[in-house]
Amino acid sequence: MTPQRVLVTAGANGIGLSIAQAFAADGAHVHICDIDPAALKQATASSENITGSICDVSDPAAVTTLFDDVQSALGGLDVLVNNAGIAGPTQPVADYDQAAWNAVLSVNLTGTFAVTQQAIPLLKESLRASIVVMSSIAGRFGYPNRVAYSTTKWGLVGFTKTLSLELGPHGITANAIHPGAVQGPRIEQVMAGRAEVSGRTAEEETQLALANQALNHFVDPADIAALAVFLAGPHGRSISGQSFPIDGDSKAAQ
Ligand SMILES: NC(=O)c1ccc[n+]([C@@H]2O[C@H](COP(=O)([O-])OP(=O)(O)OC[C@H]3O[C@@H](n4cnc5c(N)ncnc54)[C@H](O)[C@@H]3O)[C@@H](O)[C@H]2O)c1
Repeated sequence: MTPQRVLVTAGANGIGLSIAQAFAADGAHVHICDIDPAALKQATASSENITGSICDVSDPAAVTTLFDDVQSALGGLDVLVNNAGIAGPTQPVADYDQAAWNAVLSVNLTGTFAVTQQAIPLLKESLRASIVVMSSIAGRFGYPNRVAYSTTKWGLVGFTKTLSLELGPHGITANAIHPGAVQGPRIEQVMAGRAEVSGRTAEEETQLALANQALNHFVDPADIAALAVFLAGPHGRSISGQSFPIDGDSKAAQ
């Protein structure tokens, strides 16, 4: 088998970086794109199997250039991981900033659409093609004060199911992953921020957040990466159009 050729959007940090590194460790050739040049440099230096491009997925010209780079770096494409997504502000719907709404939609939905559209001709050439879409727990539940984020993450489910039906006849699978709260510095900052407002300690805020889940720990990004590798691998060939929560059995988005 020749190595899998994989594109991961927003692959220089966080979940995207874990996914890129998991595919690379599995022997794949991975190209990542990101808007953060320093993180991109660090990520590509972390493995000889990872190359990268600067690309804002919401900029159509940049996405076209990205696919020139994908062709030269990988010579084709077997796996697209649509990971890029931004959170937007925390505001009630009535006060939600219109420009922020547009920005979240343009990265999370329009950017994902633009990247996927350019990937499809390459994926159709592959004999083992798959698309993984990063939704969220906010794409399974309502999410008070995060209307743009939740709307886009639900929208990606319709996107994924449509891709599955359209591309299945070409042997291409499409699935969505719905992570809950992920371990790491970001969740620690969130808990510290909540503690400042509530007067509780960060540890008490963490325990309150975990009470929302059946399992008493946040999600390890490496587990999300392993799920993406599985879905795009040989044992995922019959799985398409599905949504995979990985959230410790959470009861709500929070
Ligand atoms: N972290 C979580 O708790 C969590 C939970 C559920 C879903 N998700 C989803 O997982 C994905 C990754 O989240 P994360 O927490 O790892 O993010 P992160 O903030 O740790 O990293 C995001 C990366 O995206 C890059 N980026 C931002 N805007 C971009 C753009 N327009 N084009 C290209 N790259 C861009 C950033 O430079 C950064 O490197 C997102 O779609 C997010 O919605 C995250």
